[in-house]
This record gives sequence, structure tokens and C-alpha cells, in this order.
Amino acid sequence: MSVSVTRSDDPAPAGPSVAQVRKTATRLLGSTSKNSYDPELDIDWAAPVDLDKKFMPYERVSLYGTPLWKRMTDEQRRELSRQEIASVASTGLWFEIILIQLLARWAYHQDPQDPRTQYALAEIGDETRHITMFAKSIASMGAPTYRPRRLVRQLARLYKATAAGPALFAPVLVAEEITDRLQREMVNDDEVHPLIRMVNRIHVVEEARHVRFAREEVARQMAAIGPIGKVISNLASAVVAAFIAESMISREVYAQVGLDPVEAVKAARSNPHFHQTRRWTAEKIMTFLNDQGMLTWYSRPIYELAHLV
Ligand SMILES: [Fe+2]
Ligand SMILES: [Fe+2]
Repeated sequence: MSVSVTRSDDPAPAGPSVAQVRKTATRLLGSTSKNSYDPELDIDWAAPVDLDKKFMPYERVSLYGTPLWKRMTDEQRRELSRQEIASVASTGLWFEIILIQLLARWAYHQDPQDPRTQYALAEIGDETRHITMFAKSIASMGAPTYRPRRLVRQLARLYKATAAGPALFAPVLVAEEITDRLQREMVNDDEVHPLIRMVNRIHVVEEARHVRFAREEVARQMAAIGPIGKVISNLASAVVAAFIAESMISREVYAQVGLDPVEAVKAARSNPHFHQTRRWTAEKIMTFLNDQGMLTWYSRPIYELAHLV
């Protein structure tokens, strides 16, 4: 499935004004105070975790549909779904820590009386709870915390220390929206483990606010940025988004299931079904980035390489 809503090299549409984003931020602050969770209290962490359940819909597992998947036992399939959701949660919480630094750096330059600054701080609060929730859910599943590869971790240090403008918010949106699409699908899936469904339910509610805020900021900033800034921003956003997508499923999950990691990584990387899942998770955000003029002749190939379009 490819995104072709407008011609990708068209200029970005007129974005919202600062006053409009402030209005949105004020509304989101109200929603944060009324509709937030405390995973410490809202999830029964003492409940035993039944390892005989699926932890993800099988059709979203990276090896689904491959000859290797057909050879795997039922137990290995269940186990891989558990390790892969643990990997998604691990990468998610890693990126949330990056996001906290990005938001804190951004807030540093803003007026604390501005509702946008206050909302950025409220979002940091949400993310601190999410990180602990994901970490506790990984522990409850009896899975390790997966870490992105060393090169990715080093590049992320540069990104979180320097990102500004649309390149600050656009990759955040990609990370949040691809995870969100996966999580929304699982919330009402009876076959998926109840712990995962509850974690996803909490995350989906709170992320909807983050997505709304980041989308408005990207639209406002893309309309205001100059042509050179746009090229840098579009390239940086695409590279960071591609690394995030590539880091979602750790290479280490396969060994945990008793598969040959080299064979399994090769099978997943060339699995058209998995590419299709990637494009499905990114469908909404890629349409948005395209509408903002962020999918161009030079940035689109990077998204294509990561199977995001
Ligand atoms: Fe989050
Ligand atoms: Fe978020």
C-alpha cells in the first residue's frame, strides 16, 4: 500500500497559528487532568501471567507467513509473540526517554506561562508513567529489556541533543503512531493476553493527546520553515523514523525462541507480509507527513527502505 494523497513535492499547507496551538494545548491540559491513569494502581501487577496466551496477533509477528513460521511449533509461535511485544515495549520506552529529553529541551526555550510549554511538561509526566508501565509489563512477561543496536543508541544521543523544529516532533509522531496502530488493534482482541490489552488501553488513551499536540506543532512549524531548513528537517526526520522502525523488533528475540538468529533475521527482513504490516502501522502518519510536504523525492526513498511507505 503506498501513500499518494497529494503530490509529495507540493508546498506544505498553511499551518495552524501559535494561538490555535495554544488553544489545543489548553484543551489537552484539561483532558490530561481528567483522563489519566496511574499504572501503579490501575494494573494488577500481582496477578499471575498466563504464558499460554498469545501476546500479539500472529499476523503481526515478524515471521508470520514465512516457511520458517510454518516449521515453528505452537509453543515457539506463542513465545515469539511474547518476545516481540516485549521488544516493541522496550523500544517504545527507550524512545519515550528520548522524548522526555526532547520535550524538556524544547520547554527550556519557551515561556512557562504558554499553555504549549505546560502541555509539554504534562506530556513528560505521562511518559514517565508509561516507561515504568512498559518496564513492569516486560518484567511480568518474564522477558528481557531489549536495547537497540549500539550504532542506533549512539546516533540517538546526537538526535536527542540537537533536534529542533519539525525534525523534533515528526519522528516522535512516527514512533507514537506506529506503536499506537498496533496497540489499538489488540485492545479488543480476546485472544491477546489481558495484561497486554490493559497496558495498550492506557497507552492508547494518553497517546491520542500527544499525537494531537505533535501534529499541530509539525503543521505549524512546516508552514513557517525556510526551504533549506525544510530539506534538513525532512531528511533528518526520515532517517530517525527509519531507525526507530528498524529497531522495533530486536534481532535478539529469535534466539530466545530457539531459532537460528541469522536465518530468522533474514526471513523477517525479506518477509513481504511483515513489510505489509509495517506499511499498515505507518499508514496514517505517512499520509499526514505527505500532506505536510515531508515526503519528497529525497526523503521518500528512506521511508521506503524502512517499509514505512
Ligand atoms: Fe507513551
Ligand atoms: Fe507519547
